[in-house]
Formats: sequence, C-alpha cells, structure tokens
Amino acid sequence: MATTEPPTPTPVPLTTDGTVHVGSDTAREWWRDAVIYQVYPRSFADGDGDGIGDIPGITARLDHLRTLGIDAVWLSPFYRSPQKDAGYDVADYRDVDPLFGTLDDFDTMLAGAHERGMRVIVDLVPNHTSDQHVWFQQALAAAPGSPERARYIFRDGRGPAGEQPPNNWQSIFGGAAWTRVPDGQWYLHLFDSSQPDLDWNHPEVRTEFEDVLRFWLDRGVDGFRVDVAHGMVKAEGLPDWHGHVSMVDGGSSDDQPTDPGAPEDGSTGAGNQGPMFDQEGVHEIYRSWHQVLAGYDGDRCLVAEAWVEPLSRLARYVRPDEMHQAFNFSFLTTAWDAAALRRVIRASYRANDEVGAPTTWVLSNHDVVRHATRLGLPDPGVRPNGVFPGDPQPDEELGLRRARAASLLMLGLPGSAYLYQGEELGLPEHTTMPDEVRQDPGHFRTHGAEAGRDGCRVPLPWRADAPGYGFGPTGATWLPQPESYQRYAADTQYGVDGSTFELYRAALALRRTEGLGHGGLSWLDAWADSPDVVAFANRGVAVVANLSSTAVDLPDAEVLLASGPLEDGVLPADTTAWLRG
Ligand code: GLC
Repeated sequence: MATTEPPTPTPVPLTTDGTVHVGSDTAREWWRDAVIYQVYPRSFADGDGDGIGDIPGITARLDHLRTLGIDAVWLSPFYRSPQKDAGYDVADYRDVDPLFGTLDDFDTMLAGAHERGMRVIVDLVPNHTSDQHVWFQQALAAAPGSPERARYIFRDGRGPAGEQPPNNWQSIFGGAAWTRVPDGQWYLHLFDSSQPDLDWNHPEVRTEFEDVLRFWLDRGVDGFRVDVAHGMVKAEGLPDWHGHVSMVDGGSSDDQPTDPGAPEDGSTGAGNQGPMFDQEGVHEIYRSWHQVLAGYDGDRCLVAEAWVEPLSRLARYVRPDEMHQAFNFSFLTTAWDAAALRRVIRASYRANDEVGAPTTWVLSNHDVVRHATRLGLPDPGVRPNGVFPGDPQPDEELGLRRARAASLLMLGLPGSAYLYQGEELGLPEHTTMPDEVRQDPGHFRTHGAEAGRDGCRVPLPWRADAPGYGFGPTGATWLPQPESYQRYAADTQYGVDGSTFELYRAALALRRTEGLGHGGLSWLDAWADSPDVVAFANRGVAVVANLSSTAVDLPDAEVLLASGPLEDGVLPADTTAWLRG
C-alpha cells in the first residue's frame, strides 16, 4: 500500500532579475518615502457631539495616528463652506468652517501633530469656489461682461435666445455642466451647480491662490493636496466634447483613438481627457506654486489629484519644477491580478524615474469604494459610484483578506504611500445605506442612478460598546454606521495580535526600520511572470503576494510579517508575506 507522504515544499530561490527600479537609498526630502494618512474631517472623530467630525476631534485622536506610525496627515477641506459637496465647495479659503472649529483649533491640531513628529498637508480646491464665495456673489450681482464675471466662466448661450448651454459639456456629477442665471448668461461648473469653475486665465485668480498658499504656509502647514489639479485650464474656445466625462476612469472619447503607446501601464485612457482636463496651461500654474513653496523651509510639498492617464502623462505634473507628488490612480484602479499589478508598478517607476519624482501608491480615498469592499465584490472593478443595497453584495471576509494582502504589498513598495482613514481598521464600505440618508451630490444629480460616495465616508468606529461606536460624545453620526462597524472598532484592535491595526502598525514600523520607502525594487525570478504571484525584493526584504485561490510554496526564509495566518512553508490564497532571505 502506498503511503502518502506530505509533499516536500519545493525550495523557492530568492534570486532576483537584478533590475532595480528607483533606489535612491536615502530619502532626500521627507515626502519621497512618506506614508501619508488621509483624514476626512467630517468622519474622523467628533469633538462637540453634533454628529459631524471636527478639528478638536482630530486633535484628541492624534495618538492613534502616532501609534500607527504614519509620517503625515492630509486633511480634506475644513474651510468655510455651505457643504454642498462636503467642503469641496469653499466659500472662504482662509477660515475654518464653524462646523469643524476655529483657526485656533487648527493651530492647536497642527502643533499637536508636529509635536508628535507628524507633518500636515491641507487640501486646496482651486478649480472652483462655492457659489457662496464673495467673488461669485459679486459676479451674480454684476452685469454680463463685467470684471466681476471675468473671474468665472460666464458665457452667452447658444440658440436664437441663448436658451441652450454654450457647449455640450456634462458635469462629473451628472447633468449639464452649465447653469443659467436670471439675466440669461450661463456659468460653467464641472461639478455641482454650487461649484462654479474659476477662470484661471484671470490674473487675479492666480494672485489670490498664491496668497492662499502663503496664508497656510505661514501658519506652518507642510504642503497641499491639490484638488482636480488637471482641470483648472480649459481648452481655448470651450469646444464641444463627445467623450464620456469622468474623473475616476480617466474619461474616454468615442471619436479619439486610444494612444497606441499607452497599454504597458495597464491604463485605459489616452492622455486625452477632453477639453476640460489635462491642458498644457495647468503646468505653468504649478511652476509658479513650486516657487512659492520653495521660498519656505522644510521641503513643503504639492500633491496632485489628477485623474490623468497614461502614467507618462501624469508624470508631467511632477517634473522637477512643478508638483512633488501625484496620486497614482492607475494603481488604485488595477484589478486584483498579478500580471496587471506588475505592469502598473513597472510603468509607475518608469514614468516617474524619467522626471526624478517618487512614485506614490494608494488603494482607497473618500471618492472610491473602500478596497476592503472593492476586492470582495463579485466584479471587483473600481466601483467609483458606490454600491446600492440591491447590488450584488461583497464577500466581507474575502474582501478583508485581500485588502490586507493588497496593503502589505503596497507598503513594501519603494515610494510614498497614501492611506485613507479607517483602512487601518479594515473598514468595509457601507453598502446597504438607505437612499434617504445619502448626501453626495453625485447621487442627486444622477437622479439616484448612482449610489454616490457616502458609503466610504461613514464616521469611524472608535469604541465597540459606545453609542455611535465612540465617534463622538453623543452617539450622533451624520451618516449611519453599519452594524459590522462594531467588530472593526479601534479599541477592539489595539494590541490584539493579528488585528488589521496591528498589521498596519507592524508594517509601517518595519518599512521605516528597513528603509523600504527609499529602497529599490527588483523582481524575484521565481515568480517573474507568474499569473498568481507578485514578488519582489526591496533592501533585503522579499515581498511575496499570492493573488490566486490556492496556496503557493514559500522560500525557506524568515517570515517578518504576513497579512494572514501562514501554513507550514506555504503562502495561502490572497495573502502577502514579507520575508528576509
Ligand atoms: C475631487 C474631490 C472630490 C470632489 C471633487 C470636486 O475629486 O476629491 O471629493 O467632489 O474634487 O471638488
């Protein structure tokens, strides 16, 4: 009778292809290898009990961030705003909205972060203001052709009585991108009608924003995340566009072929996102802002939110005299697929090495479905528009396992990484939110066709046993939390072996001590073309991610960290391990 011996694991060599992508060895400026954590102020922590997060709430939770081990915080907008787009509609760029506190509260928070060794980046929204901004109010009160109107994009309509919008552009949030005012003129808004686009050809707009930069730099901020950085300049004459207008999938055009040189980075776009995006003129603005920041000490930085593809096109935003970083949305939108991930990683380094900028990595933010849910959906695309209760629901356990594996893969890559609040707890999206509570203008402007982004913006759970899971002192939360948030609450994870919080904490600590952020990547030979595994070496640490549904043999090496439990000598499905060879 044949005995069944357990299979001997095949020793997997840790040799590499020898190609090193990046590898500056030492980080020159802090942002080159920083881990930057996005705080979405409405939903981070509520200090005053009104159910909306605020700046004192952030200050009170700075130790959570210090313990986690991040380098910097990026705050989404907290400026005076009617909150039509959750603060991305700014009425006064130099003040804190009373919802979130005061300028003194901001200064206290900033000092608290700095004392703990963390830098602070704030959001700048230059493409549009709120319709409540004094400039827009003046424009409405003034006549067509007046200097007040010239700061925005007012035009006469088409048709015999000007009753048609000046062109056919659609708002990113749905519906026409133009709204008519009582005297018959129209104004452009790429987003909600409460967010009129500024005219960046106007010199006053330019000086105003340079001044706003200085206002916050003088207060001590370490940089700016620049909202819709690819949208500020529009093509001359505002020509019609027959493509599909979207931020998240890069847009597309029915009548313009995709760039034959693009596919290597796995991106879908053609470097041509229509006359409203990625126009040459934006770069001049960033060159002038670069100069403003260079006048300050401390390597202050600008990071572009530019949904631009391919990556070689995005790299133009981070040329040496422009911005310092750009979010890598090509990485965020890549499927859970080994070959596709290797392609986008390679293309990211290639594009940014050309211009001497660090790559960035990101998996979640306040505009997309959280990756713990995305990766557990039956069709794990980006799902930018949220998930309805009636949609196919995610497999929560699979999503979390993959999300932990994806995050550990990301944090092993050289470059800078962005985290979105709550991902360190493994938080899923709220996918069963009733329509009545939704607040995203994208939901309303599409007449409910899109769920919108509320599901990723739900207030964080801090304490499993408190009302509102400890979001604030009263239990009130501006969006309802799903019941599952109880098991993700921060206090159930601190110091608990295997919790997602402790996984992130260990990864960030090792990333720092091993210098992974400013290391160099070379592909492990054993899996160089594997359809299942992404594996690379970075400064003596091997990062091996198994994206398949079956276990793979591991090299005989010391395991430093793993995203899930390991079995003897093998790496289970949807798991990443860091090894020392
Ligand atoms: C950016 C923000 C998004 C906002 C939009 C308009 O994409 O990230 O939240 O709605 O710009 O400002």
